[in-house]
Amino acid sequence: VVDISSFYGQTGMFTYDPGYTSTASCTSEVTFIDGDKGELRYRGVEIEELATNHEYLESVYLLLNSKLPTKEELQDFDLELRHRSFLHQGLNDLFIAFPSNSHPMATLSAATAALSTFYFSHLDVCTEEELQVMARRIIAKMPTIAAYAYRTSIGAPFIQPDIDRGFTENFLYMMRAYPGGKMHRGINGEDVIRDIEIKALDTIFTLHADHEQNASTTSVRNVASTGAHPYVAISSGISALWGSAHGGANESVIEQLEMIGHVDNVDAFIARAKDPEDDFRLMGFGHRVYKNFDPRARILKELQVQLQYELKLDSHLMQIASKIEEIALNDEYFVSRKLYPNIDFYSGVILTALKIPISMFTPVFVIGRTVGWITQWMEFKKTKGAKIARPRQLYVGK
Ligand code: ACO
Repeated sequence: VVDISSFYGQTGMFTYDPGYTSTASCTSEVTFIDGDKGELRYRGVEIEELATNHEYLESVYLLLNSKLPTKEELQDFDLELRHRSFLHQGLNDLFIAFPSNSHPMATLSAATAALSTFYFSHLDVCTEEELQVMARRIIAKMPTIAAYAYRTSIGAPFIQPDIDRGFTENFLYMMRAYPGGKMHRGINGEDVIRDIEIKALDTIFTLHADHEQNASTTSVRNVASTGAHPYVAISSGISALWGSAHGGANESVIEQLEMIGHVDNVDAFIARAKDPEDDFRLMGFGHRVYKNFDPRARILKELQVQLQYELKLDSHLMQIASKIEEIALNDEYFVSRKLYPNIDFYSGVILTALKIPISMFTPVFVIGRTVGWITQWMEFKKTKGAKIARPRQLYVGK
């Protein structure tokens, strides 16, 4: 707490808290985290329950409506999202304008901001019905935007959503299908998108759905506080997520495991991570809030073991990851700083087995998190007397 009277000529105090390590920016009813115990709940429901016994769209419905859907409600919700998954033809030209080899996160952020031009009326959403349509629209379209961003990055034609496929399957379809939408079939004529793949990706989406006031959600709320369009706020969340200290860590984890290359090299990299003179950090380790095992990481670790053979997970990368984990969890440096593996440490190996290219790891995070961002945006909008986000500073210049 800083007494500002000495240098601002005003009386009073304010807190100086770089990185907001001890500052609550809002009240919220959406997501609960107990970082010391390693607990996470959406609307009061434990993440373990949601990831094990419910599909992703149920968590989406829960976050938006504060209750899990009935079977009929889920069916209607699923159908509505399928119908809303198509993009306006005018957006195609925007994607085409980006250079091939552009990073999908850059395209995703730009295309999401551009979506506000097609749905400009959402600037003034007021009624509950208008809010729900606005939210469902962006959630439904995000897998399509992400898949288009990927296909732009490899110079491939876009694949429209298939109305006969559900949310998660549709994303895999739009990523994998041949021009014209044809899917290669297995030797027995089976669809190449396997149920086990859909289930694995669906769980990853569930685990990413919300995480209270992280950097990207805070960006969304900050933009919301100025009264800008909700889809532009989501675009700012995408931009904030991209960095490797946040959602971009899932991409960096695999790149780092590949750079380490062999279990015999792990010790040298652990030594670098501990060296105060070296900027090197173990990607996928540490968290601002979790000072115990990240519960999402625990679920993904178990999922990795279950899927190891069926999805042919890369055992070489898993071996390196296990060795890092084993050493770090017993090393004084990591133990004293409470640095545990986070969600990003485990998601990459599963995403690789799902044939998701590395550049699409963070966009997968975006697809899962869109519901969290838009739910938090709506909560902000409904807050009576909500203020513009406008922190103070400690001026130290001339
Ligand atoms: N490897 C080595 N040392 C680390 C790591 C790491 N991954 N993370 C933190 N530390 C050390 C810091 O050097 C610091 O040490 P010191 O006290 O000797 O100076 C101490 O642990 C505290 O680190 P901070 O950076 O102050 O912790 P903060 O809460 O600000 O940062 C963060 C959290 C950004 C996640 C950090 O742990 C990190 O950079 N991790 C690697 C990137 C990563 O995995 N990000 C994904 C986070 S989860 C998500 O966003 C979905």
